[in-house]
Order: sequence, then C-alpha cells, then structure tokens
Amino acid sequence: MRLIILDDASTVADWAAQFVLQRITQFAPGPGRHFVLGLPTGGTPLGMYRKLVQFHKEGRLSFKYVTTFNMDEYVGLPREHPESYHYYMWNEFFKHVDIDPNNSHVLDGNAPDLVAECHRFEDLIQKAGGVHLFIGGIGPDGHIAFNEPGSSLVSRTRVKTLAYDTLDANKRFFGNDMSKVPRQALTVGVGTVMDAKEVMILITGVHKSLALAKAVEEGVNHMWTVSAFQQHPQALFVCDEDATLELRVKTVKYFKSLMVEHNKLIEIKR
Ligand code: F6R
Repeated sequence: MRLIILDDASTVADWAAQFVLQRITQFAPGPGRHFVLGLPTGGTPLGMYRKLVQFHKEGRLSFKYVTTFNMDEYVGLPREHPESYHYYMWNEFFKHVDIDPNNSHVLDGNAPDLVAECHRFEDLIQKAGGVHLFIGGIGPDGHIAFNEPGSSLVSRTRVKTLAYDTLDANKRFFGNDMSKVPRQALTVGVGTVMDAKEVMILITGVHKSLALAKAVEEGVNHMWTVSAFQQHPQALFVCDEDATLELRVKTVKYFKSLMVEHNKLIEIKR
C-alpha cells in the first residue's frame, strides 16, 4: 500500500486528477479498448472532478473510450433528486466531458428488482473486463461506498439497509429531516472494489484521521472496512496533512520519505 501525504485537500484533488490523467494517457484507450474507471460521489472527490473537467477542456484528456462504474446509489430516490448520485455525477462530471452516457454506469435505485440490479451491475463490470482504477472515498467510521462497519470484506454489490449513524450524518442533505433520508442503498461490495487492478482512496480532513490510522497502522478489520485494502496489491491512499493527525510520527515520516518515488506515478512519459 502506498500512502501519499499532501499539504491540503486542494493538493489531494490535483494529485488524484493528475494520476487519473496519467493512467488513462498511459493506457491509450481507443475503439474496442476502454479504460474502466470506478468512481465515488461525496465532497472529497469534487476537486478532482473539477480538475479532470479542466484537463478535458484543455484538450489533454478524453473520456470517449472510458467506461465508468459508480460505487453506490440510494434506493427509491428519483434520479433528478439533487441528492441522488445520478444527479451528482451528471452535474459534477459527466455533462462536462465527452463520455458516452451509455458507458457511464450508476446503479439504479429505482429498479423493480433491486437484487437483479446488483447482479446486472457486477455482470457489466465483468463484461467490461474489470475495473482498471477504482477511486473511493471513506467516512469517518472507515466505510468505503456504503460498506459500513461490520460489512463483509468479501462482499459484492448488494442492497444495504443504512445504519442509524449514516441516516443521522446524511440528514443534513435532506433538510435535517431524518424521515426524508432513504433507508436503503445499493452499493458495490468491498470485494468488488478489491477486484480492481488498482485502487486510489482519497482521505481529507481531521475527521477522517482515526479511520486513516486504523486503515494503515492496525490490522485488517471489518469494523473499519477500508482496512481491507492493506491486502490489495496496488492500493494508493492519498491524504492531506489533517488526515494524518492520528498516525504515528514515524509512519508519517516513513511515507513522506518516499514522496520522490510516489511523484513518479503522476509523471506522463511521452
Ligand atoms: C461515495 C461513497 C462514500 C464516500 C464517503 C465520504 O460514493 O461511497 O464512501 O466516499 O462517505 O464522503 P465525503 O467525501 O462526502 O466525506
């Protein structure tokens, strides 16, 4: 696992976007050769999306031959609801780039058969040849996608009933009315993300520092589902200084000493 420690959230956004640019450019997608990207929603990746849109507008990055799979979606929320992940992805990213909407997959939380929808999503990932790079974010409790504490670390895409803490945390997006927060969501499993060839997790803010410490310095534990990525062969955690506050000084110094190597990951060789 690589831990990339950067000054602040905006540097994390820039570094992450540069990494995506590097990976897609190096892959050289084209007809019949799509780069497959897994994507999160939330506050953390917004800066990265803005930067990717900028790269696209500057003519440095095309999504024409990129296929995307999103991590999760609420159940029963209309697509056009401002808190739906369909709405978020369309407004924050897809509508600003040249991706073919047929290639940008977001779970359908209004499907008549939710279990079948989850299987369909896993099948689509298989048919696309698997995910090259899955980007994720985590919650302060170490959840990735909607894989809350105690989720199986080999889980696949499925329907999840959300924990009270999640409903409470999300009520701010629903007029502070807990009764308006969807009770269920569809989410990729930890195993689904683990199958990606490469995983990049973005972690910013002091409120995520305990989760980062659990993920990096302690053992693999289903109570901190992000810790599963210790066992991924190509996982990158990209964080800001604030998120390192619960790490040991020794851990921070160690990973910082590797920054020259880490920065080679975002060099674009022509
Ligand atoms: C997003 C997702 C979640 C978020 C996490 C952090 O699709 O599945 O894991 O990444 O809840 O959210 P923010 O970035 O808003 O702190």
